Amino acid sequence: MKRIVILISGRGSNMQAIVEAAARERWDAKVVAVISNRPDAEGLVWAQARGIETDVVDHTLHADRDAFDRALAAAIKRHAADLVLMAGFMRIVGAAFVRQHEGRMLNIHPSLLPAYPGLHTHRKAIEDGCKVAGATVHFVTPTLDHGPIVMQAVVHVMASDTEASLAARVLTKEHVIYPRSVRWWLEGRLHVQDGRVTHTEGEAQWLL
Ligand code: GRF
Repeated sequence: MKRIVILISGRGSNMQAIVEAAARERWDAKVVAVISNRPDAEGLVWAQARGIETDVVDHTLHADRDAFDRALAAAIKRHAADLVLMAGFMRIVGAAFVRQHEGRMLNIHPSLLPAYPGLHTHRKAIEDGCKVAGATVHFVTPTLDHGPIVMQAVVHVMASDTEASLAARVLTKEHVIYPRSVRWWLEGRLHVQDGRVTHTEGEAQWLL
């Protein structure tokens, strides 16, 4: 049974989608801990109510990024994680931390990467007049919101969209593609070569 640790900073709806998919689809894996960098993250309450162990590694209590990264790595190690999932985790981590978890750390970002890394993706997509937007699940590399792409989902951008309405439409897709990507990783179906990810059985790595 593979051990999953999920990193969050807030609401944790992607975390919930993963925990629920694991139970519903009877994955041979368990979310053993949810770790937040913010003590007030709403997602912690949900995880505790489900009997999942939680941990807080508060970035404000660490002198610098390296110290935070080391504390976070130690917390992940304590839970003997096979797979680390960033799910709305709003801290940038350093190259050493990324290397320690190479090939076994995924992130979800609410844009069609490589477009719009960083914050305010929905606002930028609307301002730029994009006709489609979406979300990306990718392996984590030392560059922010960058790395081999596992799966992407696309949504329409409506003329009437606000940042909030577009974010909500994208989020429903996030809740589909993140659990699916995780399941593929757990089943050993992701093949990474030259920065590209293919599914060994040719499953569609997009959701339209
Ligand atoms: C999601 O849109 C995620 O892609 C982004 O931040 C949001 C977090 O939502 N990085 P939640 O905490 O999973 O509900």
